[in-house]
Parts: sequence; structure tokens; C-alpha cells
Amino acid sequence: MKKYIKIYKKINSFNKKIEVSGDKSISIRCVLLASQAIGVSKITNLLESEDVLNALKAIKHLGINYKKKGNAYFINSYGLNSFKIKNKLKINAGNSGTLARLLLGLLVDTKKEITIVGDNSLSNRDFSRVTEPLKLFGANINSNNKKLPVKILGTEFLRPINYFETKGSAQCKSCVMLAALKTPGLTRIKARKSRNHTELLFKYLNIPITVTKKINYDFINIIGQKNFNSFNYKVPGDISSSSFFIVLAILSKDSKLIIKNVNINKSRTGIIKILRDMNAKVYLKNIHDYNGEKIADIYAESTLNLKSINCPAKINSSAIDEFLIIFLVAARAKGVSSFKNLGELNKKESPRLDIAVNFLNLIGVKTKRIKNNLKIYGNPKIKLEGNFVMKNFMKDHRVFMMSAITALAFGGNWKIFDKDSVNTSFPNFFKILKFIGAQLN
Ligand code: S3P
Repeated sequence: MKKYIKIYKKINSFNKKIEVSGDKSISIRCVLLASQAIGVSKITNLLESEDVLNALKAIKHLGINYKKKGNAYFINSYGLNSFKIKNKLKINAGNSGTLARLLLGLLVDTKKEITIVGDNSLSNRDFSRVTEPLKLFGANINSNNKKLPVKILGTEFLRPINYFETKGSAQCKSCVMLAALKTPGLTRIKARKSRNHTELLFKYLNIPITVTKKINYDFINIIGQKNFNSFNYKVPGDISSSSFFIVLAILSKDSKLIIKNVNINKSRTGIIKILRDMNAKVYLKNIHDYNGEKIADIYAESTLNLKSINCPAKINSSAIDEFLIIFLVAARAKGVSSFKNLGELNKKESPRLDIAVNFLNLIGVKTKRIKNNLKIYGNPKIKLEGNFVMKNFMKDHRVFMMSAITALAFGGNWKIFDKDSVNTSFPNFFKILKFIGAQLN
């Protein structure tokens, strides 16, 4: 099997309706919360990507059974204390920071030591951001110089904590929220704004939680050790996966795209706001509620007169996984776009800020980077010719997909390595690309 794809041709005009797979963040949270609920939970449209399959494997290793029937996963648990833990258990979180960090929260009371490992990319990421608060709960944790493998041994004497989340990281916030579930008493969290799927699921499941929203921070209180019942949940489409297709439609000639049933939670739609501010034709229709989340159909159309943006840093967390693809739009916009405080981008599956700057320069787009601030000098006439090779990006799924969209929107003869990386978050990526008319070799 070859490891790369070749793209030699821009995509032709298209006018299509598509549906992307289930949201990754919500899928992982549903699996982990079903592992704590009393009874059989039924989850439909669960994303079947490697990150989520690793979440299912992880709960299986912890003694939770599940089966798949048709489009639904049935996960059977007996409540907050139902993990059965073997001696010397090692759990591989693969590429998923969300899985590794959230699962550590659930293991804060483990009676036997568990080791969490991951792939090369995950083994290079910082875990002190979750091990430090988990130590405050009383857990015994060792890391390898702040990185994986992390070994965790819980304590019978868990105590609730007061925690201040300063990075705008939903993974840190959610890790502490899940640990709070296991802890007697009241855990209080003050968190910079970040995606709030865990809060919404806690509310939906009637877990004792209050959330007070202030301009810059959310104040979250959780009372722990309260069992909750199993649930049914239909995972909505993933806006992060949708974003590659939204941008392809905007940058392609005479094209239109409708993406059905996408989660448009405000804590995730930074990309829509940014694209609109850049004049892009993106609309949300059929907006409706689903258990606290918001769902809509996204309409995107070719836009010729894109303009640059001075992107306020407070949007960063709601667009954190979409910046790579947003940078492509800035590359085609009139004027100089500016993005600030993007340090967290370098802490993802690959150092995405560094990679983005190299990539933009590879395709001839001028950039100016000062520390974690980036200026992109747009060129409305951008058109690529000649050969381009994209490799050595730590198999980062989003870098791969952004490269493929560049080839299809701007042209050039491309060879893009590590095509299997799409399986991390979006196994249907190639199928949908072909459906809208992309020629891939
Ligand atoms: C995620 C949170 C974000 C995001 C990641 C998924 C989540 O990470 O980048 O892809 O599901 O909570 P941080 O919380 O580290 O910013």
C-alpha cells in the first residue's frame, strides 16, 4: 500500500450536499461517560476514527463491555465504580490527547497502577497540564519528564479541589471535571473559555453541575460521587472535519456546498466567524437544539472578494483546530491578515504554527512571525505551478488534510505523504473528496 496521495489537478466546480462523520470531541466524551453510567447507553453516529476506537479499546481494557449493532454502539456499565483493573495495565491512547488526558481524570481513584502510553506524536506532548491538578486531588502520578508514559495510582482519600484553568484548554478542564465525578464534595473550576461539550453532557445526564458564565471565564461547580443513568445520544457532525470542505468550496470556482447536521456550538464556531469577517459566503440554516448542543446545516459558496482579518486572540480557542485551514483563506485574501497568541497551536499533534509557516513559505506565501503572532500576506491571484512534496509532519491528520485542500484549490503537482493520518479523525475524508469531484491518485 502506498503511503502518499498524488494530486495533479484542481477540483472542478461542484454543487453538492454532504454529511461529515460524528464530532470527535463529543464521541470520545460519550464513550467515557457511558463507561461511568448505570445501565446500557446507546450512542449513534459515533465517529469511527482511530482516536475514538482507542477510547472504546481503553474502556474495554478497564472491564467495560460494549457491542455494535447497526449504526449504534451499546456500552454497558454499572456506574462510577465499575472499572475492573488488571495488574500492570497499560493503555495506549494512540494519537489522542483528548483520550489520554480525559481518561487520566477518570482514573484518579484507580486502585491499581495504570500506565498510559501513546504514539510518537502524543509522547512528545505536555502532560503536566493534567498531572498537576490530578495530584491536587490526591492521586499518585509519575510522568516521564512531563511526558508519556504517565503512571497513575489513585487514592482512597480523594479530596475535591479548586482549580484555575488558564490556557483555554477543554482537555484540562474536562480532565478535572471527570476526576471531580469520582471525588466526594464540591470541586470548583474557574476556566478560560473553551469548548463546553463536557459541561453540556453533564447537564444532560443530570450530574450535579452549575456553570456561571462571565465574559472571560466560566465558573463550574461539580458535586462528585453521584451515580447517573445510562443515556441515548446521537453524535452530530464534526465542524472541524467540515471546515476542510467549507474552505474548499470558498476557494474553488463557481462551487456550492451544503453540509448537513453539523454541531455549531458557539465554543466551536470561531472558524465561521473568522470566515464571515473575511467576506466568505458561509451561512447556517435549520439551526436547532439537541440536548444543549446546537446543530445546523452549513452552506458555503465560492467567494472572490476575500479580505484580510485582524483576528482577535479571544477567538483562538473556538477555532483552535481550524487555524491551518483558515491560514489558506488568508493566503488568498486581499491584504495582510494577522493572528495573535497562537502558542497553543504548537502543542497539538504536531507543532502546527511552525509547520504552517514552513508550508505557507513552500507555496510562496509571505509570512512574518514574531514569537506566537503571525502575519500572512494574502495574494488574491494565488495559483500554484510545479511540484510540491509534503512530508515529515508527524503524521498530523489536519496538516495532511490542509495540504490536500491546498492542492485542490490552488493547483500544482502534489505528492502528500502519510495519507493514513486521516484515520485519526476523519476516515471518510477521501470518500467525500471523491464524491464532490476531486481526482486523487
Ligand atoms: C479538544 C480540545 C482541544 C482540541 C482538541 C480536542 C477536546 O485541545 O485542540 O483537538 O476534545 O477537548 P485543548 O483542550 O488542549 O486546547
